Parts: sequence; structure tokens; C-alpha cells
Amino acid sequence: MTAPVAVITGASSGIGRALALELASGGYRVGLVARRREALRELAEGIASRGGAAFAAAADVADREALCEAIGAIEAALGPVDVMVANAGVGVPTRLDPLNVRDVEETFRVNVLGVVYSIEAVLPGMIARGRGQLVAISSLAAFKGLPGESAYCASKAAVNAYAEGLRIALRKKGVAVATVCPGFVATSITPMDSAAPFEISAEAAARRIARVIARRKSGLVRFPWPMALLMGLIARLPDRLVARLVGHGPEMPAGHADAAGSLAPGAGGG
Ligand SMILES: NC(=O)c1ccc[n+]([C@@H]2O[C@H](COP(=O)([O-])OP(=O)(O)OC[C@H]3O[C@@H](n4cnc5c(N)ncnc54)[C@H](OP(=O)(O)O)[C@@H]3O)[C@@H](O)[C@H]2O)c1
Repeated sequence: MTAPVAVITGASSGIGRALALELASGGYRVGLVARRREALRELAEGIASRGGAAFAAAADVADREALCEAIGAIEAALGPVDVMVANAGVGVPTRLDPLNVRDVEETFRVNVLGVVYSIEAVLPGMIARGRGQLVAISSLAAFKGLPGESAYCASKAAVNAYAEGLRIALRKKGVAVATVCPGFVATSITPMDSAAPFEISAEAAARRIARVIARRKSGLVRFPWPMALLMGLIARLPDRLVARLVGHGPEMPAGHADAAGSLAPGAGGG
């Protein structure tokens, strides 16, 4: 049997990079997508030097045509995609005064449309073959609109709902759809001064995601459990308690922002 092919978007750093290494060491041939060509090339070479198979194709996931071309190049090199991990994402604080609409647009383009385009590029093939796995990397921030992170939380909530609908629609087509919602992971997207609550390493997150793939899990996956529990509680609190707990965030005009910062896993950290 030939080794399965997994494509990972956002493979140039953080969770995506760690997952590419994890899957390659588990026998997957990995397709690597992100904008930073040099970082992808180094990663592909590192995997190859350890006897693995990797192919890098640089693209912006928000550029539908470029992404489609990149995934086409990966399929030409490695074969049909068995697993698509739509992981590329950005986390930019949401501001109120002035409204940073350009940042909000970019967040939605990358975090939402990037996921849609990644799925679009592989889904027809998966349906035709009657098998495949789609893995959307969302966040525990999907479960509560948090001050200072409205756009990020909304983008991840959109991913959750989109993937959920797909999962039900694809039940009888052999395509599993997993929505992975990590808490804080130590990567460049969470540039906090001190460790975030229940923070885990990119490698630990990658191992969890690799298990989701190995088990062909279809459904929602949240980790680590203490942070999942905390977000579940925060989601049920009245607004005034949420504001006391996590602060007002940079949504408030300058001078009103609370020093407590943000509690949105994967977002800019306030
Ligand atoms: N770290 C956390 O606490 C945390 C928690 C929950 C969820 N997440 C989610 O996990 C995913 C990975 O984030 P991370 O924590 O690993 O952060 P990261 O280290 O900043 O990685 C983000 C990756 O996405 C890629 N990317 C960003 N914009 C892109 C674009 N327009 N086109 C193609 N690739 C793009 C980046 O590569 P290039 O810059 O080379 O394009 C990079 O490889 C994100 O979806 C994030 O929301 C993170």
C-alpha cells in the first residue's frame, strides 16, 4: 500500500510545521502550503533528510486560484490528497476606535475563506474516490465572542458551523470532517509575555491532531480539557463577569482598555 498524502496549510511555522513533522514521521507523504517559500523549502528538506517525502508549494490561502494551483502541484508530485488539514490562520486584535475593518477583512479572508478554498481544492477528488479526511483547525475562541478578539472569534465560529454542515452532508460519502479547537498553543500567533492559561506546545497540539487523523475522527475535538472547560464556563457567564474576567480588550477606545488583555486562544493576545 502506498503511503497516504496529507496536505497541511500554514506549514511554515507553529502547529502546522509541527504537524507536518509528526505526520511525516508517521509515514505520511506531506504537502506543505504557506506563503513563506524558504521556510517551507527548509522543512521539506528536513523531512526528506530523515527519509520522509514532502513537497512544498507556496501560496496565499486567501488567493483561491493560487491555492488551487499549489494543491494541484502537490497532487502531481505526491498523488491524490487523502487528508487536508486547513490550518493556516491569523490572529489580529479587533479595535473599536478606529474600527480596523481591513484587519477584520483579512482575518475572514484567511481564517474562513482560506479554509473553504482548501476544502474546495480536494473535496471533488475525495467524493469521487469515496474516501478522505478534512480537518479544520479552529479554536476554543469559536465558542465565545471575546472583547478585543471579535473578528478572530467570529472567524473561528464560522469555521465551526461551516465544517459542521459539511460533516453532516458528507456522512454517506466516505469523507470524515473534524473540527479541531485547541486552547492556547505556544506559537507566534500568541505573543504573550507570560505563559497563557493551560498553554501547550505546538508539538503537543500536533500529536493531538495526528491522533484525530489516525482515528479518522469526524466531529468536534477540543483540547486541552481544562481550557475547554474554562471556555465552556466563560461562554455561559453574563457580559459583566466576562468583562471583569478577561478585560475590555483593545476594542475600547485608548485609555479605557483593561490591562487584563485577551483570553482568546490563538488570537493576538490583546
Ligand atoms: N497558537 C494558538 O494558541 C492557537 C490556538 C487555537 C487555534 N490556533 C489556530 O492554529 C492555526 C495555526 O496557528 P499557529 O498557532 O501555528 O500560528 P503561526 O505559528 O503564526 O502559524 C500560522 C501559519 O499560517 C500561515 N498563514 C497565515 N496566513 C496565511 C495565508 N494568507 N496564506 C497561507 N498561509 C498563511 C503562516 O505561514 P506564512 O506566514 O508563511 O504564510 C503560518 O505557517 C491557526 O488557524 C490558529 O488560528 C492557534
